[in-house]
Formats: sequence, C-alpha cells, structure tokens
Amino acid sequence: MAKPSQPDPRPEEETVRYEIEDGVAWVYFNRPDKRNCMSPKLNRQMKRVLDELEFRDDVQVLVLTGEGSAWSAGMDLLEYFRAAEQEGIHKTRQHQREAYGWWERLRWYEKATVGMINGWCFGGAYGPLFACDLAFCSDDAQFGLSEINWAILPGGGASKVAAELMGFRDAMYHAMMGENLTGKQAAEKGLVNESLPADHLRARVQEVADVLKKKDSHALRATKWAVRRVREMTYDNAEEYLIRAQEALNDFGGWETRREATKQFLDEKTFKPGLGAFDKSKLAKD
Ligand code: COA
Repeated sequence: MAKPSQPDPRPEEETVRYEIEDGVAWVYFNRPDKRNCMSPKLNRQMKRVLDELEFRDDVQVLVLTGEGSAWSAGMDLLEYFRAAEQEGIHKTRQHQREAYGWWERLRWYEKATVGMINGWCFGGAYGPLFACDLAFCSDDAQFGLSEINWAILPGGGASKVAAELMGFRDAMYHAMMGENLTGKQAAEKGLVNESLPADHLRARVQEVADVLKKKDSHALRATKWAVRRVREMTYDNAEEYLIRAQEALNDFGGWETRREATKQFLDEKTFKPGLGAFDKSKLAKD
C-alpha cells in the first residue's frame, strides 16, 4: 500500500522562490513534490514575497509560475484543510485569511502581473489565476474545479472566478462535472489569454512582459485597476469612475507624461500611439 502523505518539512522561506531579470520578477510556487499546492506556510511566504517586490524600482512586471509539473494543485488538503479541521474554526479562518490575503494583494498589485500556467491548476489556484492581470498557459496544462470530486464546493473564490471568466453554462458544467480542461480549452473558454506549446510558453510571456515594460507605469496601473473596477459597475458609474481615475493619474505626473507623448506624436512624428508606446526614456523620471 502507498505511504500516507506527511506534512512538508521544508522551511517556510523555501516554499516560494523568485528571480529578477531585467525588470521582470519571476515568482515560483516552489513545492514541486507536492504539486505546488498551497499550504499555510506557502501562503505566508507568498505574501512576504509579494510585499517585498511590489515597490521595487527594478521590478515592472511580475510573473507567477510553478516549479516542476504543476502551476498549483490548489489548497493543500493536508496542511490547509485537515490540519485546520483538527484545530477548529479559528485555525480555519486564519488559513483562509492568509490565502485570500495574498490573492487580494495580487488582484490590486501596483505592477502588471502575468500568470504563466505551466501545468496543473486546480480549485483554490483559481484565486491567484484570476488575480493575475493576464494569463498564458501551456497546451498540456490541466485546469479543474476538482472540489466536487471530493465532496466540497469550489470555495476560496473559485466559483466566482469560473462564473466571472466563463459563460454560465460552461461555468456550471465545469463546477458540477469535475472534469479537467486542457490549456487550449481553457483559452477557448476565457480562463487564460492564450495557450501555447510548452516550449514556447516562457518566450511568449517574456515578449508580453517586454511590451508591458515600455508602457508608462502609472497609466498601466490605473488601466488594470480600471478594468477590474468597472466590471462591477453600472455604465454611468463606470464612466464617472474613469473620469476620477484619470484625474488621479494626472496628479501622478500624468500631465507631463501625456504632454511628452503627444509631442512625440504630433510634433516630432517619432511614434504613433496606434502602433506602440511612446519613448518614456525622454521623460525626466518615469
Ligand atoms: N493537497 C495536498 N497534497 C497534494 C495536493 C493537494 N491539493 N496535490 C498534490 N498533493 C501531493 C500528493 O498527496 C503527493 O504527496 P505525497 O508525496 O506525500 O504522496 C504529491 O503531492 C504528489 O501528488 P501525486 O498525486 O502523486 O501527483 P500526480 O502528478 O500523480 O497528480 C494531481 C497530480 C494534481 C492530479 C493530484 O495530485 C491531485 O489530484 N491533487 C489534488 C488536486 C485538487 O483537488 N486540488 C483542489 C484543492 S482545493
């Protein structure tokens, strides 16, 4: 008989790793032996890492990916669920706060974020999936709301994510049937932007990150927050919010930035907004 699973003895700091390369922070779920499922230790460490990277000048884009064969196999059934059940409701709440806390931080991150889904993506992993602004996966990735297969509902926001990103019938089928989607199917249904052959995935994400890096960082932040905010607003409220958000952006040096970009287009004829970003290196400071 196979040996029962034991708690992961690795220290908290090792559950997440990152490297920064030329303005891009590549952040890894780092429990490959456990298919990168999210334990309380990982959730605490991920929050620390996100906090550390968010305001660094050498990070413009954050990519969240997984070490090994998984992006993340969702919540850790042993260390997140069973351990909390044994200790009672307060432990459960603590574990939820630690997990939901970093997903929320990521949803409203200062920097552009890209999910690079390299393999398994289950259940609770839909929280960080939705939190990433953009998402690219490999064709051989597998996406599933497996909760129904072990008799719980897709919590931790997962039902909401399916209902937000997919059509109603697709979300229902996905949640009720507990069948997996391939990367390509996930892209067709709107869970990710694109699905690519595994050996092209990193290059495509790098390409996207390189484009994002050229944008004005304040305008990019305002834009991604605007798209998230307006989803839940009426048209009139969204219109009003966008006026206010642009005015707030102006206070972040937006007038000077816009003036420079407009000058490059109208006067210097060195770029066309329809074909790419203006040259922000000509600004005194980004
Ligand atoms: N919680 C706890 N442990 C998990 C886990 C999870 N969500 N996902 C994987 N693991 C552990 C396994 O128990 C195993 O641990 P062990 O070495 O102590 O035995 C190890 O990770 C490797 O998993 P294994 O099942 O052998 O790998 P696999 O590649 O054959 O299968 C999955 C991968 C993802 C299909 C399978 O592990 C799985 O179904 N995981 C649960 C997914 C899930 O339902 N997540 C939703 C939670 S909300």
